[in-house]
Amino acid sequence: MKRRELLASMGAALGTAGLANLGLAGTEPPGSQLLTIQNASFVLRWQPTRNMVSLSADAPPPVLFARQGVPVVLDVHNTLDEYTAMHWHGIRVPNDMDGVPYLTQFPIAGGETYRYGFTPPDAGTYWYHPHCMTMTQMAHGLTGVLVVREAEDPGFDADQVINLRDFRLDESDAFLDAYTLGGAARAGTLGNVMTANWLHAPVYDQPAGGLVRLRLANTDTTRIYRLTLTGAEARIIAWDGHPLSGPAELPGAAEPLALAPGQRVDIAVAVPAGEGREVFLKTRMGTGDKTMATLRAVGTGPARSLAELKPLPANPIPEPNLATAQTHEFVFGWSPEGTVPNDGLCGSLGATFWSINRVPWAGDNAPGTEPLAELDHGKSYILRLRNESPNRHPVHLHGLVFRPLRSNKRTLAPYWTDTVLLLKDETIDIALVADNPGDWAFHCHVIEHQKTGLAGFIRVT
Ligand code: C2O
Ligand code: CU
Ligand code: CU
Repeated sequence: MKRRELLASMGAALGTAGLANLGLAGTEPPGSQLLTIQNASFVLRWQPTRNMVSLSADAPPPVLFARQGVPVVLDVHNTLDEYTAMHWHGIRVPNDMDGVPYLTQFPIAGGETYRYGFTPPDAGTYWYHPHCMTMTQMAHGLTGVLVVREAEDPGFDADQVINLRDFRLDESDAFLDAYTLGGAARAGTLGNVMTANWLHAPVYDQPAGGLVRLRLANTDTTRIYRLTLTGAEARIIAWDGHPLSGPAELPGAAEPLALAPGQRVDIAVAVPAGEGREVFLKTRMGTGDKTMATLRAVGTGPARSLAELKPLPANPIPEPNLATAQTHEFVFGWSPEGTVPNDGLCGSLGATFWSINRVPWAGDNAPGTEPLAELDHGKSYILRLRNESPNRHPVHLHGLVFRPLRSNKRTLAPYWTDTVLLLKDETIDIALVADNPGDWAFHCHVIEHQKTGLAGFIRVT
């Protein structure tokens, strides 16, 4: 029996109370954190929005901290009356800690606790979100940042995490449906309230003259942010968690930095030395720029220079051998008409519009789902990602880190990543070493696309 079928049948046999709790009784390893998924209420705009989903009753999901090479234990307790599962986006975890329903675990029922434990091999900015009831739970708030600190302190005066995301609210600040079928079939459904850490244009005090590490995460279900930073000297130092080999200039106002759903960027900012000076993070909207967050200089420190920063230590990612790499092609496009996805307790939008290699994801608990490709553990591969649709897709692979090699449309930065944005009609080759065994989810991070077919998995054995 295949593992996903085994998990499904075990779940059926044990009912809702069993599998996720096995082995948990009575042990509290040091440093374990309890994450209680619960309904929350928060003022996103004018009045409290209820039915939010977070890890406390009245605040956004907190920034979680871990340290490179140090084990973490995260006990995810579900108090909702629907299923869930937690995924640690970008972190190279063992497969059974990856949080993907039926592929790596049985969904976590209401009242259950599931213990996740892993040792992050890489430092950087990552994030967490559910992978079951993904559309509603993410749209209602359950997206948080997970910072893995370097083994050695890189010497910033401060860290500022900014979680960028939208909400879709009506005039009374109640949730609208998280998606429309028209959006799901095309570019996705944008929210109408844009937030940074659930706030409208927050202002964060930072030490005047100091060096601040800005960690930006796009955890939205749809929107591609187009970012500019003005008012300070700044350099990109890491992309999708992984340090650049050297600091890179931020693109100018003419071409803002595209940050797609799932992606993160770390920016070193030299805060101006004058008390009250401001640094603006904006996103391009049509021809105007909308302020998402502001850093304000406070105090009277001496001005530090970006040149003082040592480069961040590289993460231990194996370099693919392009001379021996075999190529696998993946075509992202429309799905054949009429497939109705199976709803395996993890929610379905009830429609299929998308496919990978003409196979739409059949639903989370569909029997007989085969991997899109089988890779040999330890070997190098080129994955050719071909977009046959007029829409953009941030394509995300779990468990492995890859390097973009080339595109038929533009020059790509060769930064290590887990999520690459495929433009209209674009073909991108990426390279990786299949160094982490397991069944790894592979999908578009526009959640409406993911949930209507643009998903699959790659097996490494
Ligand atoms: Cu960010 Cu499959 O996930
Ligand atoms: Cu992921
Ligand atoms: Cu997509």
